[in-house]
Amino acid sequence: MEPVNVGLLGLGTVGGGTFNVLSRNADEIARRAGRGIRITHAAAREYDPASVPGIESIRVTDDAFRVVDDPDVEIVVELIGGYSPARELVLQAIANGKHVVTANKALIALHGNEIFAAAQEKGVTVAFEAAVAGGIPIIKAMREGLAANRIQWVAGIINGTGNFILTEMRDKGRDFDEVLAEAQALGYAEADPTFDVEGIDAAHKLTILASIAFGIPLQFDRTYTEGISRIEAQDVEYAGALGYRIKHLGIARKSEAGIEMRVHPTLIPERRLIANVDGVMNAVLVLGDAVGPTLYYGAGAGAEPTASAVVADVVDVVRALTSDPENRVPHLAFQPGELSDLTVLPMEQVETAYYLRMQVHDEPGVMARIAGILGDAGISIEAIQQKEPAAGCTELPLVLLTHRVLEGRMDQAIERIEALPSVVGSVLRIRMEPLDG
Ligand code: HSE
Repeated sequence: MEPVNVGLLGLGTVGGGTFNVLSRNADEIARRAGRGIRITHAAAREYDPASVPGIESIRVTDDAFRVVDDPDVEIVVELIGGYSPARELVLQAIANGKHVVTANKALIALHGNEIFAAAQEKGVTVAFEAAVAGGIPIIKAMREGLAANRIQWVAGIINGTGNFILTEMRDKGRDFDEVLAEAQALGYAEADPTFDVEGIDAAHKLTILASIAFGIPLQFDRTYTEGISRIEAQDVEYAGALGYRIKHLGIARKSEAGIEMRVHPTLIPERRLIANVDGVMNAVLVLGDAVGPTLYYGAGAGAEPTASAVVADVVDVVRALTSDPENRVPHLAFQPGELSDLTVLPMEQVETAYYLRMQVHDEPGVMARIAGILGDAGISIEAIQQKEPAAGCTELPLVLLTHRVLEGRMDQAIERIEALPSVVGSVLRIRMEPLDG
């Protein structure tokens, strides 16, 4: 049988990695796919030929639409990233009847509903394993391996850059900005690093995970997003002293009231396996009603780990080329006509426990006033940590852990605490999750 022709958009880190993995493992991959897979046409504005040996044997253009319109190309692999022109290229590839593989989480989170509808109409597949947690096959695990389960919640460390920053702050007491600069130099960070540190990249991925977990349309604009830029080395230290680690988590949960979709720094008990996922590694913990908790761990970024997921998707598409389009694995795990219009809860209606850190004047009665405000709001305190003031200083940091409470009620209590004359500046809150089965 003739090999399948692939068009590759982008020859950057992941594009180059994909070309190299497909070339190096061609025989093994063909044995798995049942046919050879060859890249015949690629598009890149700029690239380093030395990093993709063998690239000279194929056509390379600087106009990605030429690849998408190439009648010999059966599968388009989109590794350009960003919203546009990626959206136009993918829609054009679909209109041309080509299958698409993409690593583009921003594209799927924002335009996935439109893209999947177009693909469904044309009877082609859009595969996106590499869009979430890089090399970890989490989409396949949830969409296929856990298909028997009602998923209750998903919690993931799904941004390697943020996890690297928090790990370095904890282990080496390093400064936020210094570690971010290193993550950028190592090539982990997004082109715009605010996507990493402000949680946007993780929110793209969490939006996708939530849809696959619960069978709901993609709703990036309903995902609450909070970054790690306000976390200081002292928070990492206080959390550690209380038996917790701070992780930047994406959490999707289904309750009676609706769906929670949120990305924010989170205190989790240090004994949880996921609390020990350090550096640039990613991990996703899924609770299914039948299987219980399952944890998926691996490299969430990087050339070849991401290429591993891209190439696996190409193999899946090749295997499915002859199957009935109606019987292919649905894009969002549930059949397109079966997606539910479940309510996504606003943060005020989400219940979690809290870590609160505030700076207070060292004077009698402060603690009582703060405890009184929390008590009035029905918020129960689990632990208190008060640090000695520095020599000659009249202010000291006060750390409180609370039991679970609705966010709306905590908002009101924090407003009252911040209005106290003895409290300096604003209260830092970090939500806490037990992540128990
Ligand atoms: N910037 C992302 C991260 C790359 O740090 O996880 C992979 O999506």
